[in-house]
Amino acid sequence: QTVDLDAVQAQIGEHDTFMHKEIHEQPESLRRMLSGRLDDRFATARLDGLQIEARELRKFKRVKAIGCGSAYYIGQLGASMIEDLARIPADAEAASEFRYRNPIIEPDTLYVAVSQSGETADTLFAVNEIQRKGGTVVGLVNVVGSSIARACDGGIYLHAGPEVSVASTKVLTHMGVGFALLALALGRVRDLSFTEGKRILDGLRNLPDQVAEIIAKEDEIASVAKELTHAQSLFFIGRVRGYPVAREGAQKLKEISYLHAEAYQASELKHGPLALIIPAMPTVAIIPDDELVDRNIGALHEITARKGKVVAITHSEIDLEGTEVARIDVPRNEVELDPLLLTIPLQLLAYHVATALGRDIDRPRNLAKSVTVE
Ligand code: G6P
Repeated sequence: QTVDLDAVQAQIGEHDTFMHKEIHEQPESLRRMLSGRLDDRFATARLDGLQIEARELRKFKRVKAIGCGSAYYIGQLGASMIEDLARIPADAEAASEFRYRNPIIEPDTLYVAVSQSGETADTLFAVNEIQRKGGTVVGLVNVVGSSIARACDGGIYLHAGPEVSVASTKVLTHMGVGFALLALALGRVRDLSFTEGKRILDGLRNLPDQVAEIIAKEDEIASVAKELTHAQSLFFIGRVRGYPVAREGAQKLKEISYLHAEAYQASELKHGPLALIIPAMPTVAIIPDDELVDRNIGALHEITARKGKVVAITHSEIDLEGTEVARIDVPRNEVELDPLLLTIPLQLLAYHVATALGRDIDRPRNLAKSVTVE
């Protein structure tokens, strides 16, 4: 197979890699995704593709997201948005595990299959298994007409445009926004008030510009990244809404830089991993401005007291109380949507660590963009 290098260069434009291009496309692609989906009249999301009537949406007593790799981590973030906004128990599971464990399928659970390509074999099999046992599955899928999109009972297309880089960036952000729209729709047929619905709509409207603001800090993020290239291994920590962000950040770094990184709940640090904290093992700490901020700052103290280096991904409003840490601040949105903004610097951090180490950004070793085989 020959590749037309001129055509590839034309698509990349001024960027050196597809990953870089796709990170930078996000403000525009998010605007496109949101257009037509924000319903101000009823302060909800317009999701015709779901193929589920508002009244029908009320019947679901539980939500379960399934996906592989990054799609699974974003599913975990989506589950927390659904619990926050709709107050329905929600969780996420790796589709690759779900399909093999004879899962109990409940008719009043809404299953959400999450996939960029729509072709991941493990996710597709899980969708088929859920449907065979009478469950309802909707898709959060990017590729229109893909196998998972066709198999699902309905869904929300992500409209992120083609994603070429193996390491997913813009599509993950779109998946998060897809979950926010779903959470809003589920919330507004339950106890979420009109005013609260409006608050989320306004937050969603502000997202694209705020993402652009973060991307504009690329040079600052690149200099933080340089400091991390000598790490033996890294921790990514977060709590509750911040934990899926930490998992995705660690995943991105592993995929393209080949540095070892592990995500941990910040609350679990003292139950084991604190033993590993040394200067050569830096921690990237996700610190949203939510009810857990003081506890998160407490964890920073525990790390710095043991001479661990910390990079905090947080908001400028947060006072880190004299801790010696590097920080990358992102603008504040609504508490339920802030985790989406906190993932953006982690994309650039992984990108710049991997670039400084001379890695093949778009085609990391041993990985494929979509895994369509068993
Ligand atoms: C592969 C890729 C991952 C991706 C996962 C799910 O393992 O290497 O980066 O997150 O598949 O892909 P999907 O297309 O289903 O989102």
